[in-house]
Amino acid sequence: MSFTIVEEVTPRLNRSELAVPGSSPRFFEKAAAGDADIVFLDLEDAVAPDDKPQARKNVIQAINDLDWGEGRLSVRINGLDTHYMYRDVVDVVEQAGAKIDLIMVPKVGTAADIYAIDMLLTQIEQAKGFKNRIGLEVIIETALGMQNINEIAAASPRLESLHFGVADYAASTKARTTNIGGPNADYLVLTDADAEGNRESHWGDMWHYAIARMVVAARANGLRPIDGPFGDFSDAAGYRAQALRAAVLGCEGKWAIHPSQVTLANELFSPSPAEVAKARRILKAMKEAQRAGQGAVALDGRLIDIASIRQAQVLVKKAREVGARKPRLAPVKKAAKKPAKNKKPAKKKAAKKTAKARC
Ligand code: GLV
Ligand code: MG
Repeated sequence: MSFTIVEEVTPRLNRSELAVPGSSPRFFEKAAAGDADIVFLDLEDAVAPDDKPQARKNVIQAINDLDWGEGRLSVRINGLDTHYMYRDVVDVVEQAGAKIDLIMVPKVGTAADIYAIDMLLTQIEQAKGFKNRIGLEVIIETALGMQNINEIAAASPRLESLHFGVADYAASTKARTTNIGGPNADYLVLTDADAEGNRESHWGDMWHYAIARMVVAARANGLRPIDGPFGDFSDAAGYRAQALRAAVLGCEGKWAIHPSQVTLANELFSPSPAEVAKARRILKAMKEAQRAGQGAVALDGRLIDIASIRQAQVLVKKAREVGARKPRLAPVKKAAKKPAKNKKPAKKKAAKKTAKARC
C-alpha cells in the first residue's frame, strides 16, 4: 500500500439510481415508495426549457410532502452554463435542503465548477442552519470533464460519486451514435480469414475506456463510480449486459430511466450468493493458511494469496451492506376484487413502451 490511504468518502448503497423528471409529478409517489437505492428528481435534460420553473416548484413540494426514506434523495440541477442553475440551487436547497441528501451536477468540466456549487451550498446551509451536509454527485459527460476528471474527483469533501453520462459524452466527443448507452455495430473487430476464407466480426465495447477511466478517478478519491443511462428500456438483456460490464470494471451501480431497470440494477450490482459463498471460502482458506504460516495456497486448483483476501472482503462487505438495507415502503395495495365466476383472469398489461425516456 501507498503511505497515502484512500478512505471511502461517504458509504451509501447506490446499486440503482432512478431518474424522475421534475415535470412529471405523477411519477413521484411511486418513485418515493419504490426500491431504487437513490432517486434523483431531474430539473435538467428531462425537462423542457419552458417547464423548468414549474418543475422546480413540483420538486420542492414533492421533497417536502413525500416520505423519500433515508439517505436516498438527490436533485439534478441544470448545468453551470445555464441561467437555471443558480435558481435550482437557491430555491430547491433553501426551501427543501433539510430533506435533500445529494445534488447531482451535470456536465462538470473543471474542478472550479464544483468549487462554485460547494460555495453556494455552504452559504445556504449556513444561512438556513441546516444540520445535514448535502453531498455531490458529478456527471462526467463531456470531453472537458473527462480530461479534467482527476482534479474534479478531488475537488470537494462533499463529493460522493462520479457518473458516466453516456449520451452527452457521445455528443461531446462527436461519437457516431444516437443510442443512449450500449454497444454499436460499427465498433467491431474483424478476425483474419480461416482456412475457408470465413471471417468473424466481434463487437467491441465503445464505452470501455470512458468507464474504466472514471472508475480509476473515482476509486483513487474514495468515490463511487456509477454507470449512467441505458435508453432502450424494453431491452432487459441489453441493460443486463451493459450493467454487468460496468460492475466487472468496478462500478457500484447504474442509472434506471424506467422502474423496470431498478429491479435489474439492484440484482446485478449485488454480489450473487455463489460469489459471496466463494468469497467466504477464500477468507476461510486464507485464515487457515496464515495460521500455518503460509502466504499463498491453492483453492479449487487455483492460487490464492493475501490479495485474494482483499478481493473477497470487497464482496462480503457489499453483501453485508445489501443485507442491512431496510426495505422501502410498500405502495398502498387496493383490496383485491374477487374474480367473477367463469370469468377468465385479465391478462397482465405489457409494460408501456410509450413511457418517456428520462435522461
Ligand atoms: C446523462 O445525463 C447522459 O447524458 O447520458
Ligand atoms: Mg446528460
